[in-house]
Amino acid sequence: MANRYIWDNNICLDLLLYRYQSNTEIALLYQLCIDKSIEIYLSSSQLQAIQYVYFSKSKDDGTTKENASKIWDTFVSKIVIVKTPSYIDFTNDLAISDIEDYVITLSAETIGAKIITGDKQFLKHSPITLTTQQAIDEIKKTETKQIAFLDLEKINFSYKTEIEKGIDRVVKRGWYLLGNEVKAFDTNYAQYIGTKHSIGVANGLDALRLILAAYIEMGVLTPGDEVIVPANTYIASILAISDNKLVPILVEPQLETYQIDDTKIEQAITAKTKAIMIVHLYGQCAYTETIAQLCKKHSLKLIEDNAQAHGCMFDKRKTGSLGDAAGHSFYPGKNLGAFGDAGAVTTNDGALADMVRTLANYGSHKKYVFDHRGVNSRLDEIQATVLTAKLSHLDNDTQKRKDIARYYIEHIKNFEITLPIITDWDAHVFHIFPIRCSRRDELQKYLLEKGIQTLIHYPIPPHKQGCYKEWNNDSYPITEQIHFQELSLPMSQVLHKDEMEKIVKTINSFK
Ligand SMILES: Cc1ncc(COP(=O)(O)O)c(C=O)c1O
Repeated sequence: MANRYIWDNNICLDLLLYRYQSNTEIALLYQLCIDKSIEIYLSSSQLQAIQYVYFSKSKDDGTTKENASKIWDTFVSKIVIVKTPSYIDFTNDLAISDIEDYVITLSAETIGAKIITGDKQFLKHSPITLTTQQAIDEIKKTETKQIAFLDLEKINFSYKTEIEKGIDRVVKRGWYLLGNEVKAFDTNYAQYIGTKHSIGVANGLDALRLILAAYIEMGVLTPGDEVIVPANTYIASILAISDNKLVPILVEPQLETYQIDDTKIEQAITAKTKAIMIVHLYGQCAYTETIAQLCKKHSLKLIEDNAQAHGCMFDKRKTGSLGDAAGHSFYPGKNLGAFGDAGAVTTNDGALADMVRTLANYGSHKKYVFDHRGVNSRLDEIQATVLTAKLSHLDNDTQKRKDIARYYIEHIKNFEITLPIITDWDAHVFHIFPIRCSRRDELQKYLLEKGIQTLIHYPIPPHKQGCYKEWNNDSYPITEQIHFQELSLPMSQVLHKDEMEKIVKTINSFK
Protein backbone atom coordinates (compact mmCIF):
# COMPACT_ATOMS: atom_id res chain seq x y z
CA MET A 1 0.00 0.00 0.00
CA ALA A 2 1.30 3.44 -0.94
CA ASN A 3 2.04 6.07 1.75
CA ARG A 4 -1.06 8.23 1.98
CA TYR A 5 -1.66 11.13 4.35
CA ILE A 6 -4.73 13.29 4.92
CA TRP A 7 -3.69 16.75 6.07
CA ASP A 8 -5.83 18.09 8.89
CA ASN A 9 -7.32 21.59 8.55
CA ASN A 10 -4.66 23.27 10.71
CA ILE A 11 -1.82 21.85 8.58
CA CYS A 12 -3.53 22.95 5.35
CA LEU A 13 -4.08 26.41 6.75
CA ASP A 14 -0.40 26.64 7.71
CA LEU A 15 0.44 25.91 4.12
CA LEU A 16 -2.19 28.22 2.64
CA LEU A 17 -1.38 31.19 4.80
CA TYR A 18 2.34 30.86 4.07
CA ARG A 19 3.02 30.35 7.70
CA TYR A 20 5.28 27.55 6.61
CA GLN A 21 7.92 30.13 5.68
CA SER A 22 8.58 30.56 9.36
CA ASN A 23 7.64 27.01 10.21
CA THR A 24 10.41 24.69 9.08
CA GLU A 25 8.40 21.55 9.83
CA ILE A 26 5.64 22.43 7.34
CA ALA A 27 8.21 23.53 4.77
CA LEU A 28 10.06 20.23 5.16
CA LEU A 29 6.90 18.16 5.01
CA TYR A 30 5.72 19.91 1.84
CA GLN A 31 9.09 19.52 0.13
CA LEU A 32 9.36 15.84 1.13
CA CYS A 33 5.92 15.13 -0.31
CA ILE A 34 6.95 16.77 -3.59
CA ASP A 35 10.26 14.85 -3.72
CA LYS A 36 8.63 11.49 -2.97
CA SER A 37 5.54 12.07 -5.16
CA ILE A 38 3.27 11.84 -2.12
CA GLU A 39 -0.08 13.53 -2.68
CA ILE A 40 -1.87 15.83 -0.22
CA TYR A 41 -5.20 14.12 0.53
CA LEU A 42 -8.24 15.87 2.01
CA SER A 43 -11.62 14.58 3.03
CA SER A 44 -14.40 16.39 1.19
CA SER A 45 -15.81 17.16 4.67
CA GLN A 46 -12.83 19.44 5.41
CA LEU A 47 -13.12 21.76 2.43
CA GLN A 48 -15.80 24.12 3.63
CA ALA A 49 -14.06 24.86 6.96
CA ILE A 50 -10.63 25.32 5.36
CA GLN A 51 -12.02 27.63 2.69
CA TYR A 52 -13.95 29.72 5.21
CA VAL A 53 -11.05 30.14 7.65
CA TYR A 54 -8.53 30.77 4.88
CA PHE A 55 -10.48 33.60 3.24
CA SER A 56 -11.32 35.22 6.59
CA LYS A 57 -7.73 35.11 7.81
CA SER A 58 -6.19 36.24 4.54
CA LYS A 59 -8.56 39.23 4.60
CA ASP A 60 -7.43 40.03 8.16
CA ASP A 61 -3.81 39.72 6.98
CA GLY A 62 -4.52 42.33 4.30
CA THR A 63 -4.26 39.95 1.30
CA THR A 64 -6.38 41.15 -1.62
CA LYS A 65 -9.33 38.93 -2.60
CA GLU A 66 -7.79 38.41 -6.02
CA ASN A 67 -4.48 37.17 -4.57
CA ALA A 68 -6.23 35.02 -1.98
CA SER A 69 -8.29 33.39 -4.75
CA LYS A 70 -5.15 32.68 -6.78
CA ILE A 71 -3.54 30.94 -3.80
CA TRP A 72 -6.73 28.99 -3.14
CA ASP A 73 -6.97 27.86 -6.78
CA THR A 74 -3.35 26.67 -6.71
CA PHE A 75 -4.04 24.81 -3.47
CA VAL A 76 -7.12 22.96 -4.77
CA SER A 77 -5.27 22.02 -7.94
CA LYS A 78 -2.61 20.27 -5.82
CA ILE A 79 -4.80 18.28 -3.45
CA VAL A 80 -6.63 14.99 -3.93
CA ILE A 81 -10.12 14.95 -2.45
CA VAL A 82 -11.46 11.72 -1.04
CA LYS A 83 -15.02 10.90 -0.16
CA THR A 84 -16.71 11.23 3.18
CA PRO A 85 -18.52 7.93 3.58
CA SER A 86 -22.15 7.65 4.63
CA TYR A 87 -21.61 4.95 7.25
CA ILE A 88 -21.39 7.29 10.23
CA ASP A 89 -21.67 5.50 13.59
CA PHE A 90 -23.06 8.09 15.97
CA THR A 91 -22.30 5.84 18.97
CA ASN A 92 -18.56 5.81 18.20
CA ASP A 93 -16.50 7.50 20.95
CA LEU A 94 -14.73 9.83 18.51
CA ALA A 95 -18.05 10.69 16.82
CA ILE A 96 -19.46 11.64 20.22
CA SER A 97 -16.43 13.70 21.25
CA ASP A 98 -15.62 15.33 17.87
CA ILE A 99 -17.72 14.54 14.82
CA GLU A 100 -15.41 16.53 12.51
CA ASP A 101 -12.34 14.48 13.48
CA TYR A 102 -14.39 11.27 13.30
CA VAL A 103 -15.51 11.99 9.72
CA ILE A 104 -11.93 12.76 8.63
CA THR A 105 -10.85 9.47 10.24
CA LEU A 106 -13.50 7.57 8.29
CA SER A 107 -12.33 9.18 5.03
CA ALA A 108 -8.73 8.27 5.84
CA GLU A 109 -9.73 4.65 6.48
CA THR A 110 -11.34 4.35 3.03
CA ILE A 111 -7.96 4.99 1.39
CA GLY A 112 -5.68 3.46 4.04
CA ALA A 113 -4.28 6.90 4.97
CA LYS A 114 -2.89 8.40 8.18
CA ILE A 115 -3.83 11.91 9.31
CA ILE A 116 -1.26 14.64 9.89
CA THR A 117 -2.48 17.05 12.54
CA GLY A 118 -1.35 19.53 15.15
CA ASP A 119 -4.54 19.07 17.20
CA LYS A 120 -3.62 17.49 20.55
CA GLN A 121 -7.11 16.06 21.15
CA PHE A 122 -7.18 14.47 17.70
CA LEU A 123 -3.70 13.01 18.28
CA LYS A 124 -4.90 11.56 21.56
CA HIS A 125 -8.15 10.04 20.31
CA SER A 126 -7.25 8.61 16.93
CA PRO A 127 -4.64 5.85 16.42
CA ILE A 128 -4.07 6.87 12.80
CA THR A 129 -2.89 10.43 13.49
CA LEU A 130 0.69 11.72 13.34
CA THR A 131 2.33 15.02 14.22
CA THR A 132 4.11 16.84 11.40
CA GLN A 133 7.45 15.71 12.77
CA GLN A 134 6.31 12.08 13.02
CA ALA A 135 5.09 12.24 9.42
CA ILE A 136 8.42 13.69 8.29
CA ASP A 137 10.33 10.89 10.08
CA GLU A 138 8.04 8.23 8.59
CA ILE A 139 8.27 9.59 5.05
CA LYS A 140 12.08 9.91 5.29
CA LYS A 141 12.37 6.27 6.34
CA THR A 142 10.10 5.11 3.54
CA GLU A 143 11.94 3.31 0.86
CA THR A 144 10.64 0.83 -1.66
CA LYS A 145 10.15 -2.38 0.23
CA GLN A 146 8.57 -5.18 -1.75
CA ILE A 147 8.03 -4.28 -5.41
CA ALA A 148 4.72 -5.87 -6.34
CA PHE A 149 4.32 -7.54 -9.71
CA LEU A 150 1.09 -5.58 -10.10
CA ASP A 151 -0.37 -3.12 -7.58
CA LEU A 152 -4.04 -3.13 -8.59
CA GLU A 153 -5.17 -0.97 -5.67
CA LYS A 154 -2.75 1.76 -6.73
CA ILE A 155 -3.74 1.48 -10.39
CA ASN A 156 -7.47 1.72 -9.71
CA PHE A 157 -7.01 4.43 -7.09
CA SER A 158 -5.90 6.83 -9.79
CA TYR A 159 -9.33 6.59 -11.47
CA LYS A 160 -11.30 6.68 -8.23
CA THR A 161 -13.21 9.91 -8.83
CA GLU A 162 -14.59 8.88 -12.21
CA ILE A 163 -15.38 5.39 -10.96
CA GLU A 164 -17.12 6.71 -7.84
CA LYS A 165 -19.27 8.98 -10.01
CA GLY A 166 -20.19 6.08 -12.32
CA ILE A 167 -21.06 3.72 -9.48
CA ASP A 168 -23.23 6.39 -7.82
CA ARG A 169 -25.03 6.80 -11.17
CA VAL A 170 -25.73 3.05 -11.39
CA VAL A 171 -26.92 2.82 -7.78
CA LYS A 172 -29.19 5.85 -8.24
CA ARG A 173 -30.65 4.47 -11.46
CA GLY A 174 -31.41 1.09 -9.90
CA TRP A 175 -30.84 -0.74 -13.18
CA TYR A 176 -28.05 -3.29 -13.00
CA LEU A 177 -28.00 -5.37 -16.20
CA LEU A 178 -28.49 -4.65 -19.91
CA GLY A 179 -28.71 -0.92 -19.24
CA ASN A 180 -27.25 2.39 -20.34
CA GLU A 181 -23.74 1.83 -18.92
CA VAL A 182 -23.28 -1.37 -20.92
CA LYS A 183 -24.71 0.29 -24.03
CA ALA A 184 -22.26 3.18 -23.61
CA PHE A 185 -19.29 0.87 -23.08
CA ASP A 186 -20.26 -1.29 -26.09
CA THR A 187 -20.33 1.87 -28.23
CA ASN A 188 -17.10 3.30 -26.82
CA TYR A 189 -15.18 0.05 -27.03
CA ALA A 190 -16.31 -0.71 -30.60
CA GLN A 191 -15.17 2.78 -31.56
CA TYR A 192 -11.86 2.30 -29.75
CA ILE A 193 -11.14 -1.04 -31.40
CA GLY A 194 -12.48 0.08 -34.76
CA THR A 195 -15.26 -2.44 -35.26
CA LYS A 196 -18.97 -2.00 -35.95
CA HIS A 197 -19.97 -4.01 -32.88
CA SER A 198 -18.83 -4.73 -29.37
CA ILE A 199 -20.86 -6.96 -27.10
CA GLY A 200 -20.10 -6.91 -23.39
CA VAL A 201 -20.04 -10.39 -21.85
CA ALA A 202 -19.17 -11.89 -18.47
CA ASN A 203 -15.48 -12.71 -19.06
CA GLY A 204 -12.83 -13.37 -21.69
CA LEU A 205 -13.29 -17.12 -21.80
CA ASP A 206 -17.00 -16.64 -22.48
CA ALA A 207 -16.19 -14.09 -25.20
CA LEU A 208 -14.17 -16.69 -27.12
CA ARG A 209 -16.62 -19.48 -26.30
CA LEU A 210 -19.58 -17.42 -27.51
CA ILE A 211 -17.91 -16.53 -30.83
CA LEU A 212 -17.42 -20.22 -31.60
CA ALA A 213 -20.88 -21.18 -30.27
CA ALA A 214 -22.44 -18.48 -32.44
CA TYR A 215 -20.62 -19.79 -35.53
CA ILE A 216 -21.96 -23.29 -34.71
CA GLU A 217 -25.50 -21.95 -34.25
CA MET A 218 -25.19 -20.10 -37.59
CA GLY A 219 -24.01 -23.27 -39.34
CA VAL A 220 -20.56 -21.83 -40.10
CA LEU A 221 -18.83 -24.35 -37.82
CA THR A 222 -19.83 -27.88 -36.86
CA PRO A 223 -18.75 -29.81 -33.77
CA GLY A 224 -15.73 -31.90 -34.77
CA ASP A 225 -14.24 -29.12 -36.91
CA GLU A 226 -10.62 -28.25 -36.24
CA VAL A 227 -9.44 -24.87 -34.98
CA ILE A 228 -5.75 -23.98 -35.12
CA VAL A 229 -4.44 -22.31 -31.97
CA PRO A 230 -0.95 -21.56 -30.63
CA ALA A 231 0.51 -24.24 -28.35
CA ASN A 232 1.76 -21.60 -25.91
CA THR A 233 -1.21 -19.65 -24.71
CA TYR A 234 -3.30 -19.29 -21.61
CA ILE A 235 -5.56 -22.31 -21.22
CA ALA A 236 -8.72 -20.25 -21.91
CA SER A 237 -7.99 -19.97 -25.66
CA ILE A 238 -7.97 -23.75 -25.93
CA LEU A 239 -10.84 -24.37 -23.51
CA ALA A 240 -13.08 -22.13 -25.63
CA ILE A 241 -12.50 -24.46 -28.57
CA SER A 242 -12.87 -27.81 -26.81
CA ASP A 243 -15.88 -26.59 -24.78
CA ASN A 244 -17.69 -26.19 -28.11
CA LYS A 245 -16.79 -29.77 -29.12
CA LEU A 246 -14.43 -28.37 -31.72
CA VAL A 247 -10.91 -29.81 -31.99
CA PRO A 248 -7.95 -27.61 -30.99
CA ILE A 249 -4.88 -28.16 -33.21
CA LEU A 250 -1.79 -26.81 -31.50
CA VAL A 251 0.89 -25.02 -33.50
CA GLU A 252 4.30 -24.07 -32.14
CA PRO A 253 5.29 -20.41 -31.57
CA GLN A 254 8.45 -18.63 -32.66
CA LEU A 255 10.95 -18.53 -29.82
CA GLU A 256 11.90 -14.91 -30.57
CA THR A 257 8.38 -13.44 -30.55
CA TYR A 258 6.45 -16.05 -28.48
CA GLN A 259 3.67 -15.73 -31.10
CA ILE A 260 2.27 -18.48 -33.33
CA ASP A 261 4.79 -19.40 -36.05
CA ASP A 262 2.97 -18.55 -39.28
CA THR A 263 5.36 -20.76 -41.29
CA LYS A 264 4.04 -23.82 -39.43
CA ILE A 265 0.32 -23.16 -39.83
CA GLU A 266 -0.30 -24.46 -43.36
CA GLN A 267 1.07 -27.91 -42.60
CA ALA A 268 -1.48 -28.16 -39.76
CA ILE A 269 -4.44 -27.37 -42.05
CA THR A 270 -6.65 -30.35 -43.00
CA ALA A 271 -10.04 -30.71 -44.68
CA LYS A 272 -11.59 -30.33 -41.22
CA THR A 273 -9.86 -27.04 -40.40
CA LYS A 274 -12.41 -24.23 -40.27
CA ALA A 275 -10.77 -21.51 -38.22
CA ILE A 276 -7.52 -20.11 -36.85
CA MET A 277 -7.45 -18.53 -33.42
CA ILE A 278 -4.47 -16.25 -32.96
CA VAL A 279 -3.54 -15.04 -29.49
CA HIS A 280 -1.83 -11.68 -29.07
CA LEU A 281 0.18 -13.11 -26.21
CA TYR A 282 1.83 -10.83 -23.65
CA GLY A 283 0.25 -7.88 -25.50
CA GLN A 284 2.13 -8.36 -28.77
CA CYS A 285 0.43 -8.54 -32.15
CA ALA A 286 0.29 -12.12 -33.50
CA TYR A 287 -1.45 -11.21 -36.78
CA THR A 288 0.58 -11.41 -40.00
CA GLU A 289 -0.25 -11.00 -43.69
CA THR A 290 0.68 -14.69 -44.11
CA ILE A 291 -2.04 -15.71 -41.65
CA ALA A 292 -4.56 -13.48 -43.43
CA GLN A 293 -3.61 -15.05 -46.79
CA LEU A 294 -3.95 -18.57 -45.38
CA CYS A 295 -7.43 -17.79 -44.08
CA LYS A 296 -8.42 -16.49 -47.49
CA LYS A 297 -6.87 -19.40 -49.37
CA HIS A 298 -8.47 -22.09 -47.18
CA SER A 299 -11.73 -20.20 -46.36
CA LEU A 300 -11.00 -20.16 -42.66
CA LYS A 301 -12.47 -17.85 -40.02
CA LEU A 302 -9.86 -15.79 -38.21
CA ILE A 303 -10.57 -15.32 -34.52
CA GLU A 304 -8.39 -13.14 -32.32
CA ASP A 305 -7.83 -13.76 -28.64
CA ASN A 306 -7.23 -10.14 -27.63
CA ALA A 307 -7.42 -10.76 -23.88
CA GLN A 308 -3.92 -9.37 -23.30
CA ALA A 309 -3.61 -6.75 -26.04
CA HIS A 310 -6.13 -3.90 -25.72
CA GLY A 311 -4.79 -0.99 -27.76
CA CYS A 312 -2.19 -3.00 -29.69
CA MET A 313 -1.78 -2.04 -33.35
CA PHE A 314 -1.06 -3.76 -36.65
CA ASP A 315 -0.28 -1.09 -39.20
CA LYS A 316 -2.97 1.51 -38.50
CA ARG A 317 -5.55 -0.99 -37.21
CA LYS A 318 -6.10 -2.26 -33.69
CA THR A 319 -5.89 -5.90 -32.75
CA GLY A 320 -9.43 -7.06 -32.15
CA SER A 321 -10.45 -5.62 -35.53
CA LEU A 322 -8.11 -7.65 -37.74
CA GLY A 323 -10.00 -10.95 -38.04
CA ASP A 324 -13.65 -12.01 -38.27
CA ALA A 325 -14.21 -11.69 -34.52
CA ALA A 326 -12.23 -11.17 -31.35
CA GLY A 327 -12.60 -12.07 -27.69
CA HIS A 328 -11.40 -9.61 -25.03
CA SER A 329 -10.91 -10.13 -21.31
CA PHE A 330 -11.20 -7.36 -18.74
CA TYR A 331 -10.02 -9.51 -15.85
CA PRO A 332 -8.80 -7.04 -13.15
CA GLY A 333 -5.10 -7.53 -13.95
CA LYS A 334 -5.48 -6.91 -17.69
CA ASN A 335 -4.35 -3.62 -19.28
CA LEU A 336 -8.01 -2.59 -19.26
CA GLY A 337 -9.26 -4.28 -16.12
CA ALA A 338 -12.66 -4.28 -14.41
CA PHE A 339 -13.50 -4.67 -10.71
CA GLY A 340 -14.21 -8.35 -11.26
CA ASP A 341 -14.79 -10.54 -14.30
CA ALA A 342 -15.76 -8.92 -17.59
CA GLY A 343 -15.20 -9.43 -21.31
CA ALA A 344 -16.31 -8.42 -24.80
CA VAL A 345 -16.68 -9.70 -28.34
CA THR A 346 -15.83 -7.33 -31.19
CA THR A 347 -16.73 -7.91 -34.82
CA ASN A 348 -17.83 -6.20 -38.01
CA ASP A 349 -20.24 -9.05 -38.75
CA GLY A 350 -23.77 -7.95 -37.79
CA ALA A 351 -25.24 -11.46 -37.91
CA LEU A 352 -22.49 -12.81 -35.67
CA ALA A 353 -22.91 -9.88 -33.25
CA ASP A 354 -26.68 -10.56 -33.01
CA MET A 355 -26.10 -14.25 -32.37
CA VAL A 356 -23.44 -13.60 -29.69
CA ARG A 357 -25.75 -11.12 -27.96
CA THR A 358 -28.62 -13.61 -28.10
CA LEU A 359 -26.60 -16.59 -26.87
CA ALA A 360 -25.13 -14.54 -24.03
CA ASN A 361 -28.66 -13.73 -22.87
CA TYR A 362 -30.07 -17.28 -22.47
CA GLY A 363 -30.51 -17.59 -26.24
CA SER A 364 -33.17 -14.90 -26.16
CA HIS A 365 -33.41 -11.93 -28.48
CA LYS A 366 -36.83 -10.94 -27.12
CA LYS A 367 -37.91 -11.18 -23.50
CA TYR A 368 -39.16 -14.71 -22.64
CA VAL A 369 -38.70 -15.95 -26.22
CA PHE A 370 -35.89 -18.52 -26.56
CA ASP A 371 -34.92 -19.55 -30.07
CA HIS A 372 -31.49 -20.86 -29.07
CA ARG A 373 -30.01 -22.71 -26.12
CA GLY A 374 -27.89 -19.96 -24.68
CA VAL A 375 -26.10 -19.14 -21.48
CA ASN A 376 -26.13 -16.27 -19.00
CA SER A 377 -22.98 -14.29 -19.77
CA ARG A 378 -23.62 -10.57 -19.51
CA LEU A 379 -21.46 -7.61 -18.62
CA ASP A 380 -23.05 -5.83 -15.66
CA GLU A 381 -23.60 -2.10 -15.26
CA ILE A 382 -21.01 -1.60 -12.51
CA GLN A 383 -18.26 -3.27 -14.54
CA ALA A 384 -19.28 -1.30 -17.63
CA THR A 385 -19.03 2.03 -15.82
CA VAL A 386 -15.60 1.13 -14.41
CA LEU A 387 -14.42 0.12 -17.89
CA THR A 388 -15.72 3.30 -19.54
CA ALA A 389 -13.88 5.39 -16.95
CA LYS A 390 -10.64 3.48 -17.49
CA LEU A 391 -10.89 3.24 -21.29
CA SER A 392 -10.34 6.99 -21.65
CA HIS A 393 -6.94 6.58 -19.94
CA LEU A 394 -5.87 3.39 -21.71
CA ASP A 395 -3.62 4.95 -24.36
CA ASN A 396 -1.87 7.06 -21.76
CA ASP A 397 -1.37 4.01 -19.53
CA THR A 398 -0.09 2.00 -22.50
CA GLN A 399 2.48 4.71 -23.23
CA LYS A 400 3.73 4.40 -19.64
CA ARG A 401 4.07 0.64 -20.09
CA LYS A 402 6.06 1.23 -23.28
CA ASP A 403 8.35 3.66 -21.48
CA ILE A 404 9.03 1.05 -18.79
CA ALA A 405 9.66 -1.64 -21.45
CA ARG A 406 12.08 0.68 -23.23
CA TYR A 407 13.88 1.35 -19.96
CA TYR A 408 14.19 -2.37 -19.23
CA ILE A 409 15.45 -3.08 -22.75
CA GLU A 410 18.00 -0.28 -22.68
CA HIS A 411 19.32 -0.96 -19.17
CA ILE A 412 19.17 -4.69 -18.47
CA LYS A 413 22.62 -5.96 -19.34
CA ASN A 414 23.17 -9.53 -18.24
CA PHE A 415 24.25 -12.12 -20.80
CA GLU A 416 22.11 -14.76 -19.05
CA ILE A 417 18.93 -12.83 -19.82
CA THR A 418 17.11 -12.80 -23.16
CA LEU A 419 15.08 -9.64 -23.62
CA PRO A 420 12.10 -9.24 -25.97
CA ILE A 421 13.03 -8.08 -29.47
CA ILE A 422 10.83 -5.16 -30.43
CA THR A 423 10.74 -4.21 -34.09
CA ASP A 424 7.46 -2.31 -34.00
CA TRP A 425 6.65 -0.40 -30.80
CA ASP A 426 3.04 0.13 -31.92
CA ALA A 427 2.52 -3.63 -32.09
CA HIS A 428 3.07 -4.27 -28.39
CA VAL A 429 1.19 -3.03 -25.33
CA PHE A 430 3.33 -4.93 -22.81
CA HIS A 431 0.61 -6.64 -20.83
CA ILE A 432 3.57 -8.76 -19.78
CA PHE A 433 7.27 -7.95 -20.04
CA PRO A 434 8.73 -11.42 -20.63
CA ILE A 435 12.42 -12.21 -20.22
CA ARG A 436 14.00 -15.63 -20.60
CA CYS A 437 16.72 -17.19 -18.49
CA SER A 438 17.91 -20.82 -18.43
CA ARG A 439 18.22 -20.49 -14.62
CA ARG A 440 14.75 -18.94 -14.40
CA ASP A 441 13.73 -20.42 -11.03
CA GLU A 442 17.01 -19.32 -9.43
CA LEU A 443 16.57 -15.84 -10.87
CA GLN A 444 13.01 -15.62 -9.59
CA LYS A 445 14.14 -16.66 -6.09
CA TYR A 446 17.03 -14.16 -6.19
CA LEU A 447 14.71 -11.31 -7.16
CA LEU A 448 12.20 -12.22 -4.46
CA GLU A 449 14.93 -12.25 -1.81
CA LYS A 450 15.78 -8.72 -2.94
CA GLY A 451 12.12 -7.70 -2.65
CA ILE A 452 11.04 -7.97 -6.30
CA GLN A 453 7.97 -10.01 -7.11
CA THR A 454 7.80 -11.68 -10.52
CA LEU A 455 5.41 -14.17 -12.14
CA ILE A 456 5.72 -16.93 -14.73
CA HIS A 457 3.46 -16.91 -17.79
CA TYR A 458 2.96 -19.84 -17.64
CA PRO A 459 4.58 -22.58 -15.59
CA ILE A 460 2.91 -25.60 -17.31
CA PRO A 461 2.13 -25.63 -21.04
CA PRO A 462 -1.45 -26.51 -22.04
CA HIS A 463 -0.45 -29.87 -23.58
CA LYS A 464 1.05 -30.96 -20.24
CA GLN A 465 -2.03 -30.07 -18.21
CA GLY A 466 -4.25 -32.68 -16.56
CA CYS A 467 -7.33 -31.39 -18.40
CA TYR A 468 -5.78 -32.43 -21.73
CA LYS A 469 -4.35 -35.84 -20.76
CA GLU A 470 -4.58 -36.98 -24.38
CA TRP A 471 -1.75 -34.53 -25.25
CA ASN A 472 0.50 -35.15 -22.26
CA ASN A 473 2.97 -37.28 -24.25
CA ASP A 474 3.06 -34.91 -27.24
CA SER A 475 6.12 -32.78 -27.81
CA TYR A 476 6.15 -29.03 -28.48
CA PRO A 477 9.80 -28.20 -27.74
CA ILE A 478 9.65 -24.44 -28.33
CA THR A 479 6.53 -24.09 -26.20
CA GLU A 480 8.18 -26.17 -23.48
CA GLN A 481 11.36 -24.08 -23.63
CA ILE A 482 9.33 -20.88 -23.22
CA HIS A 483 7.41 -22.31 -20.28
CA PHE A 484 10.66 -23.47 -18.71
CA GLN A 485 12.54 -20.17 -19.14
CA GLU A 486 10.01 -17.33 -19.14
CA LEU A 487 9.86 -14.81 -16.28
CA SER A 488 7.58 -11.76 -16.20
CA LEU A 489 8.99 -8.58 -14.65
CA PRO A 490 6.84 -6.04 -12.77
CA MET A 491 4.98 -3.99 -15.37
CA SER A 492 2.24 -1.43 -14.85
CA GLN A 493 1.53 2.25 -15.33
CA VAL A 494 2.13 2.94 -11.63
CA LEU A 495 5.62 1.43 -11.46
CA HIS A 496 7.90 4.16 -10.09
CA LYS A 497 11.30 5.17 -11.52
CA ASP A 498 13.04 4.11 -8.26
CA GLU A 499 11.43 0.69 -8.58
CA MET A 500 12.49 0.30 -12.22
CA GLU A 501 16.06 1.25 -11.29
CA LYS A 502 16.11 -1.28 -8.46
CA ILE A 503 14.75 -4.04 -10.72
CA VAL A 504 17.37 -3.38 -13.40
CA LYS A 505 20.22 -3.13 -10.89
CA THR A 506 19.20 -6.38 -9.22
CA ILE A 507 18.87 -8.29 -12.49
CA ASN A 508 22.24 -7.00 -13.65
CA SER A 509 23.82 -8.25 -10.41
CA PHE A 510 22.47 -11.80 -10.86
CA LYS A 511 25.35 -14.16 -11.50
C1 LIG B 1 -4.81 -15.16 -23.58
C2 LIG B 1 -6.04 -15.21 -22.72
N1 LIG B 1 -7.17 -15.68 -23.26
C3 LIG B 1 -8.31 -15.71 -22.55
C4 LIG B 1 -8.36 -15.31 -21.24
C5 LIG B 1 -9.59 -15.49 -20.46
O1 LIG B 1 -10.11 -14.32 -19.92
P1 LIG B 1 -10.95 -14.32 -18.58
O2 LIG B 1 -10.03 -14.56 -17.44
O3 LIG B 1 -11.58 -12.98 -18.55
O4 LIG B 1 -11.97 -15.40 -18.70
C6 LIG B 1 -7.20 -14.79 -20.66
C7 LIG B 1 -7.18 -14.22 -19.32
O5 LIG B 1 -7.06 -14.68 -18.29
C8 LIG B 1 -5.99 -14.76 -21.41
O6 LIG B 1 -4.87 -14.29 -20.88
